[in-house]
Formats: sequence, C-alpha cells, structure tokens
Amino acid sequence: MTTLFTGISRILHIELNQKPWKRGLELGHFPVSSNAWLLVKDDRIESFGLMDEGLPTDYDHKVDADGGMLLPTWVDSHTHLVYAGTREDEFAQRLYGLSYAEIAAKGGGILNSAKRLRKSSEEELYELAAQRLEEVMKMGTGAIEIKSGYGLSTESEIKMLRVARRLGENYPLPVKTTFLGAHAFPEKFKDDHQGYIQQITDEMLPEIATQNLADYVDVFCEEGYFSVDEMLQILEAAKKYNIKSKLHLNQFNSLNSIEKAISHDALSVDHLEVMTEYDLAVLGESDTIATLLPGCSLFLEIPYAPARDLISKNAIVSLATDYNPGSAPSGNMNLMVSLACIKMKMTPEEAISAATLNGAAAIELSQQIGSIEKGKKANFIITRPLSSPSFIPYNFGHNLISKVFINGIEVA
Ligand code: NIG
Ligand code: FE
Repeated sequence: MTTLFTGISRILHIELNQKPWKRGLELGHFPVSSNAWLLVKDDRIESFGLMDEGLPTDYDHKVDADGGMLLPTWVDSHTHLVYAGTREDEFAQRLYGLSYAEIAAKGGGILNSAKRLRKSSEEELYELAAQRLEEVMKMGTGAIEIKSGYGLSTESEIKMLRVARRLGENYPLPVKTTFLGAHAFPEKFKDDHQGYIQQITDEMLPEIATQNLADYVDVFCEEGYFSVDEMLQILEAAKKYNIKSKLHLNQFNSLNSIEKAISHDALSVDHLEVMTEYDLAVLGESDTIATLLPGCSLFLEIPYAPARDLISKNAIVSLATDYNPGSAPSGNMNLMVSLACIKMKMTPEEAISAATLNGAAAIELSQQIGSIEKGKKANFIITRPLSSPSFIPYNFGHNLISKVFINGIEVA
C-alpha cells in the first residue's frame, strides 16, 4: 500500500546520509525540504520531493498535510513508564521544603514505588502502563525505552520487564527494555549491599537473560544508592550475557563514574546534572551517548545538565523524559524540547535532533528511525501549520501536533 503526503510546508529530515547520530555542533544543523511531498510504501519512506517539481501519480491514498511540518516522531530513550501508584503526596512534601533525599530517607522515593508495585498484579501494571503509552504516542513519541527498577526482587523485576515486553508486542512503536534492579537497595539489604548485588548478578540477570526480557542493564550510581565499584560488578556480570548498559550517572554528585562507564562501553550515560571538567572531556571524546533529562531538573529543582558544555566538547547529546512517578512525572517530549532550549540553551534545531536521531541512537535504532530518509520507517509527526522549527519549543506547553504516523499508519 502506498500513501502520498502532500502540502508539507517543511520536512525536517534531521539527516540524509544514514549517519547514526549527530555529534557536537552537528546537532544544530539538519536538512529541510520546503513545500514538499512524501511517499510512504507499506511501513517505509519510499521517496520525497518538492511540490513544484511534480508529484508521484501512482499511489493508493493521499493525505494533505495542510501546510504542517513533518518531522520524525520523538524517541524517548529513558523512561520508567511501568509503575504502580503515583507520588503526588511526596511532591506536596517537597513544596513544603523537604528534599528528594529527605523523602527517600523517610521510606518514600523509589522504595515507596517498590512497595506499591509488589502489591500490583501484572495485569493492573499492564493496564496503567498501556494508558500512559497511548497518551505519549498522542504527544508524538514513536519509540520508547522502559526500565524496571521498582521491583527490587527477582519476581517483581521480571513482572515489570514482562509488562514492558508485552507493550512492545501489542503496540506498533519500538519498545526497548532495561533491567534496573540496581535502582535502590531493598530494606532488608540496607546493611548487606553485597547480598543484593549477588542477587542481581547471580539470580536476576541470568533469569532475565534466559527469558530475553532486557535489552540493556542500568545502575543508579549515586551517593546513598550504588557505588562505582558496585556498578562495575553489575556491568561485568551483564557482559557475560552481552547486555550493554545505559546508566543513571551524575544526578546529584559526580563520583568519577563516567570514565569507568565509558571504558565498559556504556551505550549511554543519563542525567549528568552535576559534571566536572574531566567528566565533560572524557564524555566528549567517547561514542557513549549523553542523555539529558530536563523534566527531572524542572520537577526536582536541581541543576540542568550542561548541554552547551557537552556540545562544545563534541559529545553526542540526546534528550529524554525520564518519565517516572517520583522525579519526572511527565512523558511529554515536546515539553523536553522546550525545556532544553529555555533552560539549557540548546538551539531549537539541536533540541529537535537530540530528541529524534540521537534518541534513536541511544536505543540502537537509528538505522531504522529518527530521521526522514528513504528506507527508514514511516514514523513521523505532522504539525499544525507553523512558521518555523523554532515555533515547536517556543510555543511551550501547547499541542502543536496534528497527526502521528507509526509504520505508515495514523495512530493519533
Ligand atoms: O531517573 N534517579 C533515579 N531514578 C529515577 C527516579 C526514581 C524515582 O524517584 O522513583 C530518576 O530520576
Ligand atoms: Fe531515570
């Protein structure tokens, strides 16, 4: 089946040479076709061209973009979408002056979500997560990564990952899954860290690998959570199963973990709100992707990741939501693109590239999605008529999307 899209004011291609990512200042430049058409065959982009140079005549359906822009769907490469219960009570406590760490110390935070998750059935979890997924697809997300990490026991971590895998089977968008057993120490292992690490490496990882439930492994490496040495133990164990890592690093403190993560070939290091000069330099020289999560900075009122420094050090910068009930309860990638510009001083072009092609690279899908190129999946957003790409971050908080297509099929 072929569908011809006409009347597109601009196609934001992001990339036209099949490159897997944009590094440093490349991020701010992408090819654009103005006053264009696009032909989709089945689930792929077949061809595109300019309206005044003649249109294809052979097609099954026609869609008029009505002067809207066409750009790749957002790729949200860091979420905790599967969770039970919400934590607006903790949010209110923070408004009264308690910090994220103080709330966690009182039994709130990740352990609070873990308690609720353990009580929920797989079916309940699936229904809640599916609702969230449908909501973010309407907001233009066309590929997503989902972490476990609120189970903290073999059974519950597997339950979370099964839910994430089922979402990938039942919805058209690509879903990558990440095992984050090392998200917090369960209460009973508070004084026995090695006991829990061993459970992760000797019990959880082998079982998860056998059932092929996780594409990646993650560790929350932070004061009060997992140390650099503990992270390395987990990365070593994951290597035996060929599972690459995507890591929570430098959210509140720099523990010199970035260099170690890079030497273990981490696919991405995420958060990066607190960075030393050394962290910036080593990351800029590596192929490890720097995934920035401005929604978390907004919500927790912590520093924003130094996007400009990372870009000037030549890093591969991507943007994601961190969608989770505690530190970032929004899965709206449009808002992340706005925040990246307003608070991290990324240019609109940089933010859009970081939220599409580089996001795809952060889940190893940039050969298939993340740009509008021939042969790639027909996963794209059509906006309302907008005067320029800058209008997307500028008109923050508004819904500028008119249609979302995944695999060539309209999903919203
Ligand atoms: O990415 N920092 C660690 N994990 C999440 C927050 C988890 C939670 O508070 O529930 C994050 O910010
Ligand atoms: Fe996170």
